[in-house]
Amino acid sequence: MLAGYAVPDFVSEFWHYYIAAISIAGIIFSLWVLSSQTTKKLAEGEQAELMVHTWDGDLQELNNPLPRWWMWMFIGLTFFGIVYLVLYPGLGKYAGTLGWSSFQEWKDDKDTVDAEFDKVMAPFKSQDLMAVAADPKAKEMGQNLFMTYCSQCHGSSAQGGKGFPNLTDGQWLFGGTPEDIQASITGGRIAEMPPMGDAVGGEQGAKEVANYVLSLGGKPHDATLAAAGQAKFVACAGCHGENGKGMAVASFPDLTDDAWQYGGSESAIVQSILKGRKGGMPAQSQAAGGALNDSKIHLLAAYVWGLGGGKKPAAPAPAEAMAAPAEAVAAPAAN
Ligand code: HEC
Ligand code: HEC
Repeated sequence: MLAGYAVPDFVSEFWHYYIAAISIAGIIFSLWVLSSQTTKKLAEGEQAELMVHTWDGDLQELNNPLPRWWMWMFIGLTFFGIVYLVLYPGLGKYAGTLGWSSFQEWKDDKDTVDAEFDKVMAPFKSQDLMAVAADPKAKEMGQNLFMTYCSQCHGSSAQGGKGFPNLTDGQWLFGGTPEDIQASITGGRIAEMPPMGDAVGGEQGAKEVANYVLSLGGKPHDATLAAAGQAKFVACAGCHGENGKGMAVASFPDLTDDAWQYGGSESAIVQSILKGRKGGMPAQSQAAGGALNDSKIHLLAAYVWGLGGGKKPAAPAPAEAMAAPAEAVAAPAAN
């Protein structure tokens, strides 16, 4: 936290004294100018000094002393400035006796807004995520949060883009149950595939394996290349499975579906193989350095779950299982 440092940007003590000295010298200089101009006081019956210039024939300038009201206003404002500099940061890195900082003010404002939001959230927070997903008001708030915190990567419709997964298609790298989604948001996710060029024999080998991958998914491919790639797919099977269908639990993607994070063309697959892939979803919880508290994550998880791709919890707690209709219990395996 920044407590005690009003201005943490000074790299050396010199600038602290430099700025403070200029501010103080400025105040002293103004007071000196004022006093030097107000010492003349007209004695009884004395005429103000006549300055040399004359305009428009007969318009003359007299050197009268400054009006008292003006002088007192000047002194008053100077005094205000001095009090201000004692109370608030302004002299170099001196923090001021009130300890005010723009950071603290921002934080207090934010805490107030968060507290307001939590009040609105309270009824949802205690609710089951799937119930929240069905609530239109929660959906609207979830969408607003999504626009603010997630759309820059996952797109405003949550359908992703190159490198960023589609959250609406029911294909999950890290699982689509309410708990899985909440965990993805809370702690972030990283899936990593090392560059595999050497393992498949360079670019030509990658092309062959890519065609074999396309054949596994029943997509248009070059049969000769695919046949040559089949044996090389051994290098991939450990992670993506013998049949390329991936292993949802271990976050290795299915290569036979249409849900491509990095593209499903031959050349995009070749790039995936040669360069490797490493997607990074940043952790969002405040505990992990993100911006979201538990209430917001709960709402967002419900929103994402409700976008159409959410899976039912695989193993509901016994009490829930009894209450839930039979088909809700027989959930499909994740991914
Ligand atoms: C900086 C970009 C970025 C931001 C911001 C971001 N994500 Fe992600 N997210 C990703 C990437 C990349 C992945 C895939 C990670 C991987 O491939 O290893 C991902 C994965 C996910 C997953 C898991 C998908 C799966 O297939 O299992 C969920 C759920 C998710 N994000 C939700 C969110 C939500 C909700 C937000 C907003 C709070 C958000 N993300 C913000 C980049 C981002
Ligand atoms: C060590 C485990 C591992 C091995 C070995 C591996 N992969 Fe991967 N692969 C992954 C992971 C994890 C991802 C997801 C990366 C991400 O989400 O950022 C991935 C992603 C991909 C993708 C991108 C999928 C998409 O949705 O765009 C392709 C294509 C792919 N792998 C093909 C292959 C092929 C072909 C091989 C063998 C030459 C191979 N992988 C070997 C772990 C592996």
